[in-house]
Amino acid sequence: MKTTLSVIKADIGSIGGHIKPSQSLLESVQNHIKAKSKGILTDYKITHTGDDIAILSTHTGGPLNEKVHKLCWDALLAGTKTAREQGLYGAGQDLLKDSFSGNVKGMGPAIAELEFEERKAEPFLFFAADKTDPGAFNLPAYLTFCDPMHNAGLLLSSNLKKGFTFRIMDVNYTEADKIIELNTPEEIYDIAVLLRDTERYIVEGVYSRVTGEQVAAVSTTRLHNIAGKYTGKDDPVMLVRTQKDFPATGEVLSPYTIGAFVAGFMRGSHNGPLMPVKQNSDISFFDGPPVVSAAAYCVHDGKLTEAADAFAHPYWDYVRTQVSRKAQEMRRQGFFGPAMLPMSELEYGGVVEVLQELDKRFIIKK
Ligand code: 13P
Ligand code: 13P
Ligand code: MG
Ligand code: MG
Repeated sequence: MKTTLSVIKADIGSIGGHIKPSQSLLESVQNHIKAKSKGILTDYKITHTGDDIAILSTHTGGPLNEKVHKLCWDALLAGTKTAREQGLYGAGQDLLKDSFSGNVKGMGPAIAELEFEERKAEPFLFFAADKTDPGAFNLPAYLTFCDPMHNAGLLLSSNLKKGFTFRIMDVNYTEADKIIELNTPEEIYDIAVLLRDTERYIVEGVYSRVTGEQVAAVSTTRLHNIAGKYTGKDDPVMLVRTQKDFPATGEVLSPYTIGAFVAGFMRGSHNGPLMPVKQNSDISFFDGPPVVSAAAYCVHDGKLTEAADAFAHPYWDYVRTQVSRKAQEMRRQGFFGPAMLPMSELEYGGVVEVLQELDKRFIIKK
């Protein structure tokens, strides 16, 4: 029987601004899942990254399964109730629709799911990012699946060398899912052309060209496209299966050494370096910096091991120091140039309103 991994993540309220959920909030989500998951889930883990709560679950129902999605949606509603009772900031922030119809796609939470026949050993990584958007995973995905500078397996393993298929979504198209499939290694330059535009083109999935199996899944939610206005950043999640015919765990982690600049940070309106952090980390400097956590698991008959915290190793302390330096450099120039996002991506209407007012005061000199 096939196993499905489902991650559903949302910001439903946090302490002291956009820092982290409260213990009671986490417990109410946990208690709901614990009480209602019998016969639906095989296993689950509940964690937070910054102010977002992620429900990682295993089951046999396949992706977009109504029972699984309803269970998680209701758990997030139960959490929202607690958030309101405690007066947490942004209670229910990412739950943008009132009525549940079939699955949580398009309702606000970030979703990533993988369905597969379990291998003898089935290691995988679960990434959760806060204060950024799904495009943050574009560069790591490119480097892991296309570049031997990060993925030694592309040179050393005859199977990895056969390449991968990228499914990339144009998230500006909101009528339906608009998807292109491109193959590595022959189309890596075309993949790069799309992935450089992190606000429009997002890696949705990666598939092995040897087995046809899905290796990676990334959430593609754009809250801005659902609500039509800023309601918080689209803090994304990614699942990646590792080892054997797939990249080694360390090859998937390698690109995070860069601390690449991504969109997000304060008010979802700035660029900041993506900092790899430990699981259940909080948010601080300038409502950031953008952070990503990575939990490594093995799953067997749907049962999850405990997590290995992939960014807890001392190596990443050194990276975090360097990323802090990058963040400080960028913050020194405040609102200027690339420090703040371009007009089209500014998450607050204030600048647009000011420009409209000022436009009336311009005079054209003949
Ligand atoms: P081991 O020899 O420890 O199994 O490691 C193999 C490997 O592929 C590491 O990337
Ligand atoms: P979140 O999307 O994580 O809630 O952050 C919103 C924000 O405006 C931070 O400054
Ligand atoms: Mg928030
Ligand atoms: Mg968040």
